[in-house]
Order: sequence, then C-alpha cells, then structure tokens
Amino acid sequence: MKSQQLRQLLDSLSLDEKIGQLVQLSGEFYQAQNIATGPQKSLGITQNLVDLSGSVLNVTGAEQVKRVQEEHLKKSKHPIPLLFMADIIYGYHTVYPIPLGIGATWDPKLVEEAYHNTADEASASGVDVTFAPMLDLVRDPRWGRVLESTGEDAMLNSHFARAMVNGLQKDLPNGRGLAACIKHFAGYGAAEGGREYNSADISLSNLKQNYLPAYRAAVDAGAKMVMASLSTLNGVPGTGDQWLIDDMLRKQWGFDGVVISDYASIQELVDHGFARDREDAARLAITAGVDIDMKSPCYANGLKQLLNQGRISEEKINQAVWRVLSLKNDLGLFENPFRGASIERESHSILSSDKRAVARKMSQEAIVLLKNEDEVLPLAKQSNKKIAVIGPYSDEADLIGLWAVHADSNDTVTLADGIKEKLNDSYYSISKGTDILRDKKFFDQFGTAEESVKRSISSNEEEIKQRQKSLKNAAKADIIIFACGEHPLQSSEAGSRVLLRLPQNQVDLFNELVELQKPIITIVFSGRPLVLTDLVSKSSALLQAWFPGTEGGHALADILFGDYNPSGRLSMSMPYIEGQLPMHYDHLSTGRSEETSQHNSRFVSRYVDSPSKPLFPFGFGLSYGELVYSKLVMERSQLKLGETVESYVTINNIGNYNRYEVVQIYFHDDVASVAQPVKRLVDFKRVFIKAGETKQVKFSIPINQLGFYDRKGNYQLEPGTFTFFAGSDSMAMLSEQVELIQ
Ligand code: BGC
Repeated sequence: MKSQQLRQLLDSLSLDEKIGQLVQLSGEFYQAQNIATGPQKSLGITQNLVDLSGSVLNVTGAEQVKRVQEEHLKKSKHPIPLLFMADIIYGYHTVYPIPLGIGATWDPKLVEEAYHNTADEASASGVDVTFAPMLDLVRDPRWGRVLESTGEDAMLNSHFARAMVNGLQKDLPNGRGLAACIKHFAGYGAAEGGREYNSADISLSNLKQNYLPAYRAAVDAGAKMVMASLSTLNGVPGTGDQWLIDDMLRKQWGFDGVVISDYASIQELVDHGFARDREDAARLAITAGVDIDMKSPCYANGLKQLLNQGRISEEKINQAVWRVLSLKNDLGLFENPFRGASIERESHSILSSDKRAVARKMSQEAIVLLKNEDEVLPLAKQSNKKIAVIGPYSDEADLIGLWAVHADSNDTVTLADGIKEKLNDSYYSISKGTDILRDKKFFDQFGTAEESVKRSISSNEEEIKQRQKSLKNAAKADIIIFACGEHPLQSSEAGSRVLLRLPQNQVDLFNELVELQKPIITIVFSGRPLVLTDLVSKSSALLQAWFPGTEGGHALADILFGDYNPSGRLSMSMPYIEGQLPMHYDHLSTGRSEETSQHNSRFVSRYVDSPSKPLFPFGFGLSYGELVYSKLVMERSQLKLGETVESYVTINNIGNYNRYEVVQIYFHDDVASVAQPVKRLVDFKRVFIKAGETKQVKFSIPINQLGFYDRKGNYQLEPGTFTFFAGSDSMAMLSEQVELIQ
C-alpha cells in the first residue's frame, strides 16, 4: 500500500479502531470457546476491543494462523490484518544452543545463517515478528535469563545482535522472514543480585559503554521493533522511560519502528509505584513512546478517557497507530494477510536436513572444552577401551532449554543417540544413574502437577537400582563419561539461583565414580556458567555443553570422537565461587590491584577466603593439539584521531590437529580522565589453521573505537598511550603500545 493510502486508512479509523491497533492479546482470546467468561473476563476488556485488537502473541502454525486471521478480517469494518508475534529466541522447531552457547561460537556469520533458517521455518508457520534477539548484557549468572544473552562483552554482543537481526529480516522483502523485536530496552541484564525482575542501577558511562551498544548495533541494522524493559533502570521502569525511548531511541538513534511493552508491564507501572493507577500507567507509557500494550488492559480501557480528559493528545495515539500500520504495510500484510504461512512450506522447511546441519554446526562451535588432562580427548572410535556413559543427561532429550517454547524435545538427538552412531554396541554402556533433580520442594514451588513430578523424580527403589547399575557399568569400563547438569527449570525466565551448583544427588553420584579412579570426561548441560570448581579438579576432561539444542547429541559425539576439534570460547567468565558475582573481565584495576600493588598483601583488592579471579576467564576454551601466540606487531607506534592502526598476530599450530582459533585483541587506555578497564576486547578473528602451520592474522583497528563515555555520557578520546594485547583469551599476554597524538 502506498504511504498516502495508509494515511487515508489511518484517518478513516474510529478512536476505538485506533486503540485496538495498540492492544496485543494472547492466543486464548482466539482459541477459547467462550472468551467472555475466560481470559477476556480476567483481563477486563470489552468484546469490541478484543475484535479490534491489532496483534496476537504466541499463536503459531500455518493452519491456525490462517484461521485466526480469516475470522479476524471478517469482523473488522476496516479489515486490518493482525500481526502474529511470537517468542522464537534461538530456533523455532530446529533449536540451536541457548544464546550463551551461541556467544561461545564467536562466529557471527554462522549465527546469521542460523537465524535466517529460523525465520524461514517460523514464517512458514505464519509468524510475522519474533521477540528476539534479547540484547541484554549480563555479568551475573545468578540471573536465569543469562541463558538468553550472548554474554558479558559489549563488542561481541554487538556482532551477534547485527547477525541475528540481519538473518531474521533478510527475507522480509520477499514476504517471508521475521521482523526482529529486540529486547529488553534497557538494563534488565543488570538486575541487582541476579534476582529476576529486580531493579538495575547503572551509571550513565557504564550504560553507554556496555549496556547500549548491542541495541544500537541492532537498530542500525534495521531492527523493526523494540520491547521496553519491565524492570527499572536508575529508578525509572523501562516501560515509562521517556528519556530512553523517546529521546534516545527515537530522536538520537533515529529509530522509527514500533515499541511494545513487555508482558503486562504497563499495568505493572502501578506496582512499581511509578503510576497512580492503570489509567495513569497508560498515560506514562504512551507518553514515553510505547506503542503497543502487551497483555494489560491499560491502553484498551484507559486511552479514550485520557484523551477526553485532555491528558494525552490524539496526535500521540495517531503516531503510535501509524507506526503499527506502517509495520503491517512493510510486511506486505495488506496485500497478503497470510504472508509466508503455508502448510506446504512448513512441511519442507521445519526440521529439514539442511536446517539440522546448521544446528549441528552451531552446537559443535558452541561447546567449550575447559579441561583436557593428558589428552584424554578425543576418544578413539576403534579401540578396545570400554566407555560407560553415566548421568541424568546421558540419554535425556530435553536439551533445548526453557525458552524454546515452540519446539518439541522429541526431535532432539540425545548424547546416547550421538554415541551410538560412532561406536560399536559392545564398547559402551548407557545408564542414567540418578535423576536430574530429586528435590520435590523445587517442583512444588511452581505448583507442578503431581503426575509430572512423578515423571521427574523416580521412586527411592528405582533410584537405588539406577545408581547400582551405573556403578556396575563404571566398574567394567576403562573411561567414564559423566553427563550432568542443571534442570531446565533452574534457568531461563524466573530461574534465578544463588547456588550455581549441580544438584546434590548428581554430586554424590559423581563422587562415587571418582572413587573408582578412572578417567572421567564430564559434560555439563546448563543454562548458565555454573560453579564447576570441584567438578573440574576431579575430572580428566570437561566439556561445557550448555543446552545444545536439537542436534546437541550429534555435536557432542563429533567432539568426543575427534570428528570436530572443539573451538568454543567462553563469552562469559566462569566463577570460582558464587560470592565473586557479579564478575566480568573488563573491570577496573582499582588503586590496589592484586597483581601490581606495592601494599602489604592484606591490603589489596581481593578476598581472604577465595581467589578473586574466575575459574575460567572470558574468551577461554581449549582445542585438541597445541597452538602458540608468538608475535604481536602494531604497524605504527603513533597515530592521530581518525586513523587506523594495522596489527599482525602470529600464531603457530605446533600440535597434530587442524583447528579453528579465535584470535582475540584487547586494549587498555593507559591513562584517562575516567579510569578504564584493565582490558577491553576490540577485535577478534576466527581462523582455520592446519597442523604444523604458521599464520599471520591481520587486524585493522580504527583509533576512534578506543574512546570511552565520561560521567556526563559524552564520548571522549584522549591523547596518550594505549596498550594492545593479543592472545587466546582475556588473559592475553603479548602486548605492544601505541600512542595517540594530537
Ligand atoms: C518476557 C519477554 C517475552 C514476553 C512474551 C515476558 O515475560 O519478559 O521476554 O517476550 O513475556 O512472551
């Protein structure tokens, strides 16, 4: 539709029709038999507004979407198609590793391809918009939604943000693809104490330096929508933050797409103590620039009164409706309200072999090898050694994490499935040993149905039998693979924890296995970095598998048997103990740095009962074989503003394996008017290097990227020296200095 026609459509709408466009309802409004006594009643909005609502949440499936759209269009005087929005965070039916695993790939190109595939699958099922990617930077793995983040670094997150948006939106011009709704704007990832929905307090310089860049990158890549955060940032709830939405996002960054609230977050402005009542909440949200109210009655019931009372202008409503109609128009819904939805397309696209292949590649790249003593890995496919695969994740299909809400874990390849494809039956045994979690109280707190608790927790007799069987298997084996981890319910939304350990029943089983004094290869499945200190010290090798997705079992077996040389590198520090949290590699040095201070060792910045360093630093990960960093050359020693410095890092693969290496470059601004992090990632390259090969890897670093934000939020780049570091992780040691002159 031409812009002029769209304007005419807007002008022809009644106030109720306009308000309807700003209301989003969830699936039950379109599916329930008698909505007047069901969800509609509990939400408390009129049938008229239900009929006029502009978008729908989490209804998927070509058949279903077509039916809902058809019925909706019959009801409207002005037939304006619904927008179908859904949470498709890291895959639709073909699920990738959780975003924290995606972060560990350091491979934005592959991520773009994967998200492009996701858009193909989900648009075939009638989805128009996905509430992804989540771009919240996280430094505290107690927060359950760390699962949805690509990690703790602003620069790395920005690369993934661009890749995900580009992948999702690539096919929009062809009537397919998904519009990306980036979330949760902003600061939600800094929830105090890692407690879900808690407030964030972030200085302006920290916000601009660390928490906003991934958003900016996604907006610059053309993301069509933004979701405002339901949490508070420096006391102001994201849903009512005019400074963030109207001033920064729209005016400064030039974002002209749609802003949506989070689930019921407009009405929660009252609970925050920020709005007097729901009407006031509607006023604050629309004034801040929130266009769509997701699942609260505030816009539906409040906007008309606010207008009549002169507390908001009709122009404000018109602007919001215009943005919603423009998105529908950009997606081509007026011409084809069903867009890509097609049962036929679904049957070709969903879980197709090429999509599974990309998921397998992504899982391979996401898994991080954290220890490999005496090169116990890779395992030989042909040897007389017997392997006992033990643990609750040894044949578990739920490897997709809690936010893969549209996928089915029955489509997942388990670890046992993967191993079966590599080994002859007589060389391995599989036994569960124990449940993932045997704490009934844990399930009871969510009101889990008795039946499903029973499915999760075996009877005591069954548990004893399982344990005995696995100990027997272990006794007969030469090598043990221990497949352990968190329960999916222990991470993701509302999955904050204070103790980031394996459930005690798994620890007990592990310790019994340790007593057998056989090599143990531990595989950890989790939605976050756990505290692995004890597990690492007692294992010969350890693989961090995250929730690795639909193809997880294949990818793990590929790594275990050397068909893929692990290349994953942590995008988040792994704590030594929970009391260190929050932690991040790009901290300041303090006046009393543990490493460099001249003070007596008591009076330096450290803990008296724990190391202050992480167990594994940001950027860390092993591969098979050995590689050394031999040289860092900065082409120039002096530069002026606007110039670029070329640098060369020499790496030598001195081992027997071909591999990928993620070459990382960090810098430190030696003296600045605002103290700067000890190191900041400035660039990286993922390169393939053959056994015995030497490679020189080139980087071009624009000096203007080395600035910082001062206390007033202004970007500064001050003359002086900068130290660059190169290496395989954030402890990178090769260093060279460069000076910025005036
Ligand atoms: C979450 C969002 C999600 C929304 C819709 C909320 O609880 O915070 O991330 O997109 O629900 O399902």
